[in-house]
Amino acid sequence: MIEDLNVFPLMQYEAEIGEENLAFFLSGFSCPKNLEVEDFLKSKARQSSRRSSSATYLVCSSKYRELLGYFTIMTKAYSVNGKLLNSANRRLIERFAEPDENGYYHAAVYLIAQIGKNFAIPEERRIEGHDLLDLAINKFETAKNILGGKLVMVEREADRPKLLEFYNDNGFKSWTTRRNAKDGMVYDQMFAVLGGK
Ligand SMILES: CC(C)(COP(=O)(O)OP(=O)(O)OC[C@H]1O[C@@H](n2cnc3c(N)ncnc32)[C@H](O)[C@@H]1OP(=O)(O)O)[C@@H](O)C(=O)NCCC(=O)NCCS
Repeated sequence: MIEDLNVFPLMQYEAEIGEENLAFFLSGFSCPKNLEVEDFLKSKARQSSRRSSSATYLVCSSKYRELLGYFTIMTKAYSVNGKLLNSANRRLIERFAEPDENGYYHAAVYLIAQIGKNFAIPEERRIEGHDLLDLAINKFETAKNILGGKLVMVEREADRPKLLEFYNDNGFKSWTTRRNAKDGMVYDQMFAVLGGK
C-alpha cells in the first residue's frame, strides 16, 4: 500500500485548482489497457459528476502529487430473472426487491462504473489495483452506513480473463451476463457483498 494517498472528489478538485488546470492534470492520465477508462476520465467524468449521474474520485499520492488512478461510482438499477440466480444470490437480492409477476427482480445496487490506474507514471510508483478497489469499496461502506445497501456490481468485458482474475481475487463473483445492444459486447456482471453476507 502506498502511504499518504489522497482521494479527491473530481468536482472538489476542479473547484480548488480551476477548470484549465484540471484538464492539464487529467491529460497526464494514461490507461492503454482500457481506452474507454481513459476517455471517460478525460472527456465524460466532469459532465457526469455535474449532473450527479455518477461520482468520480481522483486518487493521488501526496508525496509526488501524482494522479495514481481514479474510480467512478454510482447507483444502478439491476434487473434479473430470478431463475438465473442460485439460491444464495436470490436470497441476497430479495433483501432489496420483490420479484415482479414474471419472476424478475429490479434492485438498486452500487456500481463501480469505471476504475483504472495511471500507467503513465513509473511502475515502481503505480498504485496496486486492489488498493484502488479498496478505496472505492470504502466509499460504498460510507454510503451503506447512511442509506443501506449491500451489493456492489462491476461489469467486466467477458473476453478479458485477466480482469476476471483481478475481481475474483478481490471478492467479486460472477452472477449473470449482459449483452450490450449497441455493440454486441458481452459483460460479466460481478458482485461483491459489503461486509460479507
Ligand atoms: C484492473 C486494474 C485496476 C488491476 O490492477 P492490478 O491488480 O495492479 O494489476 P495489473 O495492472 O498489474 O494487471 C494485471 C494483469 O491484468 C491485465 N489487464 C489489466 N487490465 C486489463 C484489461 N482491461 N484488459 C485485459 N487485460 C488487462 C494486465 O495486462 C496484467 O496482465 P499480466 O499479468 O499478463 O501482466 C488495472 O490493471 C487497470 O487499471 N486496468 C485498466 C483499466 C481496466 O480495465 N479497468 C477495469 C474495467 S472493468
